[in-house]
Amino acid sequence: MNTAYDRRLGGELEALRAAGTFKTLRHLTTPMAAAVHMEEAGDVIVLSSNNYLGLADNPRVIEAGIRGLRTYGAGTASVRFICGTFDIHRALEEKIASFLGMPAALTYVSCWTANEGLIPTLAVAGTAILSDELNHASIIDGCRLAQAQRLRYKHSDMADLEAKLASLAPDMTKFIITDGVFSMEGDLAKLPEIVALAERHNGVVIVDDSHGTGVMGATGRGTVEHYGLTGRVDVITGTLGKALGGAAGGFVAASANVIQTLVQKSRTQLFSNALPPTVACSALAAIEELEQHPELLAKQRANTAYFRRRLVEIGYKPLEGESAIIPIIVGDTAFAIRMSELLLAEGVFVTGFGYPVVPEGTARIRVQMSAALERPHLDKALAAFEKVGTALGIIPSKV
Ligand SMILES: Cc1ncc(COP(=O)(O)O)c(C=O)c1O
Repeated sequence: MNTAYDRRLGGELEALRAAGTFKTLRHLTTPMAAAVHMEEAGDVIVLSSNNYLGLADNPRVIEAGIRGLRTYGAGTASVRFICGTFDIHRALEEKIASFLGMPAALTYVSCWTANEGLIPTLAVAGTAILSDELNHASIIDGCRLAQAQRLRYKHSDMADLEAKLASLAPDMTKFIITDGVFSMEGDLAKLPEIVALAERHNGVVIVDDSHGTGVMGATGRGTVEHYGLTGRVDVITGTLGKALGGAAGGFVAASANVIQTLVQKSRTQLFSNALPPTVACSALAAIEELEQHPELLAKQRANTAYFRRRLVEIGYKPLEGESAIIPIIVGDTAFAIRMSELLLAEGVFVTGFGYPVVPEGTARIRVQMSAALERPHLDKALAAFEKVGTALGIIPSKV
């Protein structure tokens, strides 16, 4: 290693430590669940996982993965078009498409690679992309790789989006790209307005519903279902690494022509291995569990409503929203990290997010609700929030 360069990196890391913004990886020794054992902190309640439906340690999901490993081995040791694809990938893709009410679907090893494969493939030179300023980093990076003209509209600002659409040639294809549920705010994209604008301005709507799939909508089919827009959004991307089993994996769901175009041309499909078959099997089982157990979604929602209400009663002012994400803005990055450390010391695992993940000055504790959590977990966590918030002076003291 070039020692001067290595020393420079060391200095930069030291500066992060000194500023209190250094991220520390925690090591778990048990499966993701309502509570986990953490090497550094013992048994802790988890409020920071995307395990929204509690399926990460679901026995049927685990067994499906084990069966997948026995049936298919580890993988094909190559990309799909070179060495073939497993029938379980086709079964999962058909399931995802029918679950979302879309014509077809294609899986990737993550939603990151799905977005990065999709956006530059569709948004070629001569087209335009209009992207919400708070979109996920994978969308931002996907847009950076595209040859299209790129415009960023203010967060959920429909007047700004409309003005930008109107500034482009009427016959130009315009890709409007948005998160379904914004991951750091927990708010929903204004999809009815976005779809209406797309219909007037030759737009193609792409929704990344990673935090909405399994969570939003009457039956957990996502933000598109929530708004009654099934069949009117052109492309949906999402992850299998959150509500749908929590391992990894992502997908694009769209028309058969879009999916075939991705098979032919998208670089993260052509030059990268498939989703491991173990994960394909467990994700398929997770979708079936979701469909067969609507009580999971009902419990996740009841937990969210209870935790939100009690947080406000304690004196917090979380951002309002309809999703399972409950952000509490605290301002300073080091403060957010310090607060999450104090909560961890009280047995609650919840992460503080700061710059550059969120804009400077809007650091936050992001609470995420799961169907895995029982009322005693929630009450213990709320007691910790009350104690830590009082000690830090961010909620009114009771005495
Ligand atoms: C909106 C959104 N898109 C994409 C991703 C990336 O998903 P994956 O972990 O499958 O790459 C995330 C994960 O944080 C996300 O929140």
